[in-house]
Amino acid sequence: MVNTPDQDLLETLEATAQRLLDRHLSATKEWFPHTLVPWTQAEDYEPDYEWEPNDAAIPPAVRSALFVNVLTEDNLPYYFRDIERMFGRDGAWGEWVRRWTAEEGRHGMVINTYLQATRAIDPVELERARMIQVQTGAVPEPPTMAEGLAYVSLQELATRISHFNTGSMLTDEVGKKIMRRVASDENHHFLFYRDALTAVMEIDPSSAVIAMEKQTTDFAMPGVGIPGFSGHAKAIADAGIYDLAIHHDQILQPVIMRDWALESIEGLNAEAEESRARLVKYIGRVGKVGRRLAARREEKAAQLEPAPA
Ligand SMILES: [Fe+2]
Ligand SMILES: [Fe+2]
Repeated sequence: MVNTPDQDLLETLEATAQRLLDRHLSATKEWFPHTLVPWTQAEDYEPDYEWEPNDAAIPPAVRSALFVNVLTEDNLPYYFRDIERMFGRDGAWGEWVRRWTAEEGRHGMVINTYLQATRAIDPVELERARMIQVQTGAVPEPPTMAEGLAYVSLQELATRISHFNTGSMLTDEVGKKIMRRVASDENHHFLFYRDALTAVMEIDPSSAVIAMEKQTTDFAMPGVGIPGFSGHAKAIADAGIYDLAIHHDQILQPVIMRDWALESIEGLNAEAEESRARLVKYIGRVGKVGRRLAARREEKAAQLEPAPA
């Protein structure tokens, strides 16, 4: 757990934080949840209302993804706690923390309202799950700033992909637009954290590489504490919304191997050299297993398809 912000590193990177914050503010556009929610589809809920899957025609895996994605957004208080602990309240870092929090607040707001208006998910089940999850308050708590930056980089990009792919599988154009809007925010968050870790790498490459290794090998999609999480995660993977192959091809490979150029980082100490070797191997293995699982799933799907007449 990060007990106190790493003051020295924060101060050294103050100008970087300011630059990344300014870039973020000029790249993002203001948007309003109320303009996206399809209010005309909404109706009052009768007091004895009992939800049925037919209330909204959505494949179960997409429903699982919406459920997990919105609950992850609802866990914002604990992600805020992590981020504030890590970056503190002062200067550009503090400003980033508050701006990020304000933006994240919109995500839960717009997705929740969409789900309630369209009856896509049982509102009672969802609210009970939200209560359980927020009362559990479990989120990863990286122990150092470098590890924290490695974790949130991977996490923001994972959320971006998950929201985007969930939206792509909705036939409802409004839902698609909402999920893409949120995904675009997550992408901007990812860019801030990715480039902040790049700046750490320039000062202390060994700590950055050790942090990458720890957070990559420990990485789990957000969702611990969500009731029925493993079943939902399996459905989400089976539907190709987020699986190991995507994790490798769209996160580990482009971010760690390409953007952070893991294999060409110079000036590492012995511990970090070992860390790098393990991480390269690990990423290769994730790619292999991911491809194998995806192929197996395709085979299974082909077997289930009716034979041509
Ligand atoms: Fe979010
Ligand atoms: Fe985000």
